[in-house]
Amino acid sequence: MIVFTGIQPSGVIHLGNYIGLMKQLIGIQDQYKSFFCIVDLHTITANKLAPNELRGNVFKMVAAHLACGINPEKAVIFNQSIVSGHTELSWLLGCYTPIGWLNRMTQFKDKAGRDKQKASLGLYSYPVLMAADILLYNAQYVPVGDDQKQHLEITRDIASAFNKHYRQDYFVLPEALINSSRVMSLRDGTKKMSKSDPSDYSRINFDDSDKSIINKIKKAKTDSILGFDIDTLSARPEVCNMVNIYSALSDIKVDMLCNTISKYSMERFKKELVDIIISTISPVRKKMTELLSDKDYLLKVLKHGGDKAAGITHQNIKKIKDIIGFVQW
Ligand code: TYM
Repeated sequence: MIVFTGIQPSGVIHLGNYIGLMKQLIGIQDQYKSFFCIVDLHTITANKLAPNELRGNVFKMVAAHLACGINPEKAVIFNQSIVSGHTELSWLLGCYTPIGWLNRMTQFKDKAGRDKQKASLGLYSYPVLMAADILLYNAQYVPVGDDQKQHLEITRDIASAFNKHYRQDYFVLPEALINSSRVMSLRDGTKKMSKSDPSDYSRINFDDSDKSIINKIKKAKTDSILGFDIDTLSARPEVCNMVNIYSALSDIKVDMLCNTISKYSMERFKKELVDIIISTISPVRKKMTELLSDKDYLLKVLKHGGDKAAGITHQNIKKIKDIIGFVQW
């Protein structure tokens, strides 16, 4: 069985990326044929980074995968722009995607902001490229954070539309693998933790120093309710988020955790939370720094993965073109 997932090279990973995605990839690479893609084509739909920054971010993302425990001999790690099948299939699938489906996508509405006329065509068709990423490998499973659900739904819809049109089940309908709740901003528990949040205090980055992690958790928003009774959490977004982070990093279920910490003061809870975050991040941070001093090695990993991915996708593109009726030889 095939697994595909992608992450944008928008900088260093944060706790949301780690809990939502990275943590589950370590087990996945042992069980499935895994493709872990650094989706640089998606990044230019919104962030027009300087060329050196974009390149640097791709290296940072390869280093993050390896430092988190991904083994390039088990999983195929590569950057999306090097495998031309992604853009080619994106065009083809765009021709089977009604505009009405794209108009419903909440990410476009959020990212385009008020003046939609100024948003790029790339941002609008972002979900089609994401569908192409997944369908190009005929992936059965797609490990993602909870925020990507709508993208997986449209991928299935596009695959079904194509299959229906040609009266054959060529594309597998992929399923999302979601194994944790969404990690929210430390400043506002109703907004997701995100790289694009202007406040650096809203997130914990994997290159934050221990001092900075202590500071961010100290300043993280809380409320005046005492203790950690599980029944109160749904009305306490910021505290609930921190309990979920503690639970995810310690692998202790929320109800069990709340039993243990129900009478804790906020100070004691935050101290333990800081300890567990630092013990998760600091070895990864150290390894990332080591890896980033050897760009030749990181490039070798990307090339190895890119060659493997290109070989497989070349065959798939050929079959898809054949189904559509293009002349090939
Ligand atoms: P991206 O780069 O925003 O995020 C990468 C992964 O991290 C997860 N994630 C979170 N999980 C929980 N809480 C959060 N606050 C949080 N923030 C991010 C995301 O769910 C994701 O799994 N559209 C995708 C990239 C993509 C892709 C794909 C994914 C492109 N093609 C094909 C899967 C398959 C994105 O922007 O992820």
